[in-house]
Amino acid sequence: MNKGKRICLTGFMGVGKSSVGRHLAQILRADRIDLDFFIEKNEKRKIAAIIDTEGESTYREIETANLRKLLDETGAQVISLGGGTWTEEGNRRLLKKHGLTSVWLESTFQHCWRNIRMSKKERPLARNKPAARKLFDERQKLYALADWHFIIRPELTSFDIAKQIAEEIFS
Ligand code: S3P
Repeated sequence: MNKGKRICLTGFMGVGKSSVGRHLAQILRADRIDLDFFIEKNEKRKIAAIIDTEGESTYREIETANLRKLLDETGAQVISLGGGTWTEEGNRRLLKKHGLTSVWLESTFQHCWRNIRMSKKERPLARNKPAARKLFDERQKLYALADWHFIIRPELTSFDIAKQIAEEIFS
């Protein structure tokens, strides 16, 4: 098992980056961190409040600053990114520079949208279906730049996916 490898999970909102990350860290007995959680803790406010009051482009600057801080200050082996983090070229460069292996959790829009609707997390960029669909379509080619792809089929649990990632990337 390659114990030293660090990975970041990317993919659209609602695909399950946080729960897969949680299971994966348990399987690997590794530390994990959720970038969204890290941002809210540092900024002392909700991401939705930042986007709603300051707009998306200011939020992206805050997100990048926090990603840099997280990579400099923590050695977490599993990082769950926000759905837009990987779509910024500078963030992709930063993650590569720190030696992270990127993993795209790929699923259908229907699957992600169902989870977005069921979840309590507020997602200002996916408040309605057409807006979310547009973002989903625009981002596919950027997520596809990740080192690994795992297809999330609806019958698989987050644990199943984490196990697959651990077996294929860490063995
Ligand atoms: C975003 C996804 C969210 C959060 C923010 C912006 C995006 O994270 O970072 O609302 O641009 O896709 P999740 O992917 O965990 O929902």
